[in-house]
Amino acid sequence: MSKSLMATAQAPANIAFIKYWGKKDSGLRLPANDSISMNLGGINTTTTVEFDAQLLADEVIINGQPADERAYGRVVKFLDKIRQLASQDLKAKVTSQNSFPTGAGLASSASGFAALALAAVSALQLELSERELSQLARQGSGSACRSIPDGFAYWKTADNSVDSFAYSLHSADHWAISDVIALVDQSEKSTSSTDGHKSALTSPFFKTRIEEYLPTQLEKVKTALTQRNFKDFGQAIEEEALNLHAICLTSKPPAIYWNSATLSIIHSIRIWREEGLEAYFTIDAGPNVHVLVETKNAERLKTKLTELPEVEEVLIAQSAVGARVLS
Ligand code: PMV
Repeated sequence: MSKSLMATAQAPANIAFIKYWGKKDSGLRLPANDSISMNLGGINTTTTVEFDAQLLADEVIINGQPADERAYGRVVKFLDKIRQLASQDLKAKVTSQNSFPTGAGLASSASGFAALALAAVSALQLELSERELSQLARQGSGSACRSIPDGFAYWKTADNSVDSFAYSLHSADHWAISDVIALVDQSEKSTSSTDGHKSALTSPFFKTRIEEYLPTQLEKVKTALTQRNFKDFGQAIEEEALNLHAICLTSKPPAIYWNSATLSIIHSIRIWREEGLEAYFTIDAGPNVHVLVETKNAERLKTKLTELPEVEEVLIAQSAVGARVLS
């Protein structure tokens, strides 16, 4: 075979404004609810995949190191799905690099599986639509499906794999808002999101979240995004972050993702808001705090966050395009 079956793709991480928490089907990664996110410019994964007849087993290098057993197994399982789609059994070499600090507590599975899906599919010259690519990325890591389309994404739940994918609600330049990320902890999180998705269903508040709270909250965030109404948007995303963590705290076993630094930043943001800096927080399954501001206020907020003794590092990300093939 003379033709090289190799491609490189890049995909951004994304921050969810309405969170995906709990699954309808774990194998297929079908979410319990719809979610809404924004791609994070500059916080991305670049992945090269080369299928090679000489290889006896897949090789996976992440940030310059061979992947650990768990990550390796997950990547191989995902490559198997793509090999099946392409009716192909060649092994691959996967080399993946994150642009953000390793172990900073920023989830790399969304950018990682979105970049891997696009690079592997392109290497095998499979022609997939954006929708099909998003469905595929979802099966690697749920939130990865939202890193495929541009800008602000909406991921639909469904009862079957074909109908659960993310699409762009608005392009990246729709609204100049920034995610100013306060990193407070570099260690591995105590409860993985995989375990968190499972235990979410045991919270006595889970049913209320899904059936009563989220339908209205999704509409609020969607409308605020469309109208670029920052106050409504900010209030809705904070409410949602607190609702998600109420589920985590009341699950069996409970997942307590916050630490004292997280709480201290929450209080600071509320004080700064009273002083006139309009900023709103959201928090994923970890202690770091994502603070949303209009981009014109991002540097000012970064300075204030950097001055807090409990903050280790601050990153600023603006809304960005989705996954792209680089070569
Ligand atoms: O894609 P996963 O399994 O890593 O889950 C992501 C979960 C949250 O980050 C907490 C929420 C979300 O929608 O991104």
